[in-house]
Amino acid sequence: MKTPSPVASAKFVLQLPKAELHLHIEGSLEPELMLSLASKHGIDLPYRTLEDIRAAYQFDDLQSFLDLYYLGAGVLMDEQDFYDLMWCYLCRCREENILHTEMMFDPQTHTDRGIALETVINGFTRAMDDAKTGWQQSSALIMCFLRHLPEEEALRTLEQAMPYKDRILAVGLDSSEAGNPPGKFQRVFKRAAEAGFFRVAHAGEEGPAQYIRDALILLDVQRIDHGVRCVDDPTLVDELASTKVPLTICPLSNVRLCVYDHMKQHPVLDLLDRGLRVTVNSDDPSYFGGYLCDNFNALGTSLGMTEQQAVQLARNSFEASFLAQETKQKFLSLL
Ligand code: ADE
Ligand code: ZN
Repeated sequence: MKTPSPVASAKFVLQLPKAELHLHIEGSLEPELMLSLASKHGIDLPYRTLEDIRAAYQFDDLQSFLDLYYLGAGVLMDEQDFYDLMWCYLCRCREENILHTEMMFDPQTHTDRGIALETVINGFTRAMDDAKTGWQQSSALIMCFLRHLPEEEALRTLEQAMPYKDRILAVGLDSSEAGNPPGKFQRVFKRAAEAGFFRVAHAGEEGPAQYIRDALILLDVQRIDHGVRCVDDPTLVDELASTKVPLTICPLSNVRLCVYDHMKQHPVLDLLDRGLRVTVNSDDPSYFGGYLCDNFNALGTSLGMTEQQAVQLARNSFEASFLAQETKQKFLSLL
């Protein structure tokens, strides 16, 4: 008889080569950096201490988080700030054996405050280049449109980004989901596809399963961010299992934003065992109490994730990436 695979330990998770595909770089802003940048630029935050900041991170839903996330991002002003933010996360990738990362950023959060897109992109890409030189860190950028704003503003953002096309791998859709369906952004996603960008969208985080279908059909996305609400539509679950459209799932985020009351209710391992190409990610690690390994470890502790399941999740993370086939194979061979 085959011995069952043991529950994956923290040590096992740490040594596993992984990719992270759903990480908002602005959501990796740690309280220490937030306070130091606020002081550098003379920005008045409603917090005085690290404890004040941490105490504020209690969320009822997505919107209550987004309000603080946009407030925090307001301390990012010059190119060095964007560099430092990116550098901190890429150092974390090195520590956690995250060999490849596709990171989201929200240009409108910065350009609407009068910061040039060039400042944002130059800061990010300089850190990415240094990490590539330093330890071969593989990384790429996903430019997200804010769905609570009109499509015209997303179209303008796409135009502004064209000079940096070779530094942006994909476009995405994030921010307040309820009441902002994928169909609102059909034109900008069509234009992005014509310009050669890969496409992803947040769908089925708080919004209904129908938004997942809409993102696939109307926006022609190649990956769904979150997507956990697919469980409300068994036909959709079957379709996701057969098409292998990846879901970038963020367990700690879902619990912190009250999508689930407890990690024990999370469907990620059920979906994995049903053959969906699900991946584990941290979303906004500084706000949700954990980076990628913490997300894997929460599944070990609460759901009994086995070593076999952890390896499959790691395999999925490379397969779901936008890396060239040859590079994917190189990473997969390490598993
Ligand atoms: N922006 C940053 N994190 C997000 C999330 N979890 N959902 C939607 N928009 C976001
Ligand atoms: Zn997200």
